[in-house]
Amino acid sequence: MNILAIETSCDETSLAVLTLEKKPDGLHYKVRSHQTLSQAKLHSAYGGVFPNLAKREHGKALTPLFKIVLKEAKMYTELKKNKQEKDTKKIETILEREEELKKVLPEFLYSIKKPSIDVITVTIGPGLEPALWVGISFAKALGTLWDIPIVPVNHMEGHIISVITKGKKSFTVPELKLPAMALLISGGHTELVHVSKIGTYKIIGQTRDDAVGEAFDKVARMLELPYPGGPEISKLADESRKNNYLKKYTLPRPMLHTKDFDFSFSGLKTAVLYTLRDNPPKNKKEVAQLAEEFENAVTEVLTKKTLRAIKKYTSQTLIIGGGVSANTYLRGEFKKELQKEKTKIPLLLPSIDITGDNALMIGIIGGIKYIKDKKRTRVLKANGNLSF
Ligand code: KG4
Ligand code: ZN
Repeated sequence: MNILAIETSCDETSLAVLTLEKKPDGLHYKVRSHQTLSQAKLHSAYGGVFPNLAKREHGKALTPLFKIVLKEAKMYTELKKNKQEKDTKKIETILEREEELKKVLPEFLYSIKKPSIDVITVTIGPGLEPALWVGISFAKALGTLWDIPIVPVNHMEGHIISVITKGKKSFTVPELKLPAMALLISGGHTELVHVSKIGTYKIIGQTRDDAVGEAFDKVARMLELPYPGGPEISKLADESRKNNYLKKYTLPRPMLHTKDFDFSFSGLKTAVLYTLRDNPPKNKKEVAQLAEEFENAVTEVLTKKTLRAIKKYTSQTLIIGGGVSANTYLRGEFKKELQKEKTKIPLLLPSIDITGDNALMIGIIGGIKYIKDKKRTRVLKANGNLSF
């Protein structure tokens, strides 16, 4: 079975084609093509993602990206002529509110032979609704024209499943040791999720204000570093550690000792603001020292609270997903902390190329869902606040 996966929840336009086979040892995936276009540079002028700009850029990018992906998956065949009036009408209605898509997508679809795609999976939330709608409309247009089912996917479930690929182009869905604990850390989310099995989740704690990635981005902005700020802060912090710069700043560890599993990062961000006002770094070295202290504070809160959650819920596996899981220091600290524990539960992390938003993870989870429950979805609706 061939799957086309679509992800447009934020500022990454991503498409993937996967082949899914049910084998005696489990579900086997082969990545035929996977392409992601980032809009980050465009948004950097705004210091964050600007929803309507994201919508326009997804609309522009999807059709040419689709052509590339189809070619790579060896599913692209041009047609001389094949325009059917009744389908044109249907697709035009679906794309009514998609200014960019409707300019190019119908014509492209009528210029190619139906590829051997059996099912489409698309992110329906959480994320920016105008951006999500572009992917959904794209999915609907294809699904309608080619009469194939569409599986709606929760973006955060995608981040959880992203840990299974181990960076390979060919992989089998492993038997996870359950229950698992998933720490999801991205630009929009910071949550601890108890995973009783794939498809059954319970949020046991989350941020009360800013998400971790958001805090990285905001602090980076204060330090006049470009967006996205996470990798920039991380680079400076690593430089500070490598050079053994002394600890110059002390930032708070918000909610480290509270009994719940919630987080709060806006106070930490404000503490950085006050530091910049009262005791500003005088040179690049001091900026690096401040970046290190910020990264240390975030990491300490995340590791300590996650480890406590693992104990309380007797989790058998720790999964970390989302854009911030790319952070080298954080990865290292989690490994170290888990090593110290008697139980030595496995730590699953996404390979670096898919820590951020991507269609591959949307294809994997969509495929699993489709195999489990072959329902055709008729109503597809973006939900910016979709939760588990
Ligand atoms: O999952 P993601 O790509 O998009 C959302 O769904 O939000 O996460 C993006 C976030 C951004 O806030 C970015 O600054 C952060 O992930 N990020 C990092 C690193 N790489 C990306 N944060 C800390 N360290 C990194 N190396
Ligand atoms: Zn994400």
